[in-house]
Amino acid sequence: MRDGATSGALLDWYDIHARDMPWRVSPADRAAGVRPDPYRVWLSEVMLQQTTVAAVRDYFARFTALWPTVGDLAAAEDGRVMAEWAGLGYYARARNLLKCARAVVRDHGGVFPDTREALMSLPGIGPYTASAISAIAFDRAETVVDGNVERVMARLHDVHTPLPAAKPELTALAALHTPEARPGDYAQAVMDLGATICTPRSPACGICPWRDPCAARAEGTAPELPKKTPK
Ligand code: ADE
Repeated sequence: MRDGATSGALLDWYDIHARDMPWRVSPADRAAGVRPDPYRVWLSEVMLQQTTVAAVRDYFARFTALWPTVGDLAAAEDGRVMAEWAGLGYYARARNLLKCARAVVRDHGGVFPDTREALMSLPGIGPYTASAISAIAFDRAETVVDGNVERVMARLHDVHTPLPAAKPELTALAALHTPEARPGDYAQAVMDLGATICTPRSPACGICPWRDPCAARAEGTAPELPKKTPK
């Protein structure tokens, strides 16, 4: 089953409230059919793996100014790339970044593959990042589940099973809501909803596009979800 009503309300909200990020396409361009550049989507997703959006912005701007295409990055000197990465942390990401760029040039003619499976065969691209690139850059109906999405799904369906045991259930719910139309915008819309409205402590339920279907709002349980098994 696919639930078109809930995803439709969220996409309408995203069309107005999407956060402006340098790897995204503007609403006007999107309406004109412009697609995101897979290279920029990949670079942003790798940078965002363990780092906040705020910290990534400047690094993303520098990298794309120095190396506008995956071919440019593949041809860069290792030491230069590592130096530009300094401060972002988790340096295995930078080494894999170069390996991945070179594999895309060598094995894929400089064009990022569009399926989750092919993306996962590249260095530094795990299941989450493969789904995110496939959905955001290629508009494939892949489900992207990060902590924001888990929280939103736990509240929408009033799931009281604690994390991490609830992960399979929350992933299945997220898949249920993923639309065939605009799955890339939908994936980013759930992330934005979790980051700006369905926040951990004081969710702004009154202005949420999902306030009507949200079971936790009806029950008054939103602020206490998702539950977590004590460490
Ligand atoms: N976190 C990881 N990927 C993201 C994206 N595309 N938009 C917002 N937050 C993100």
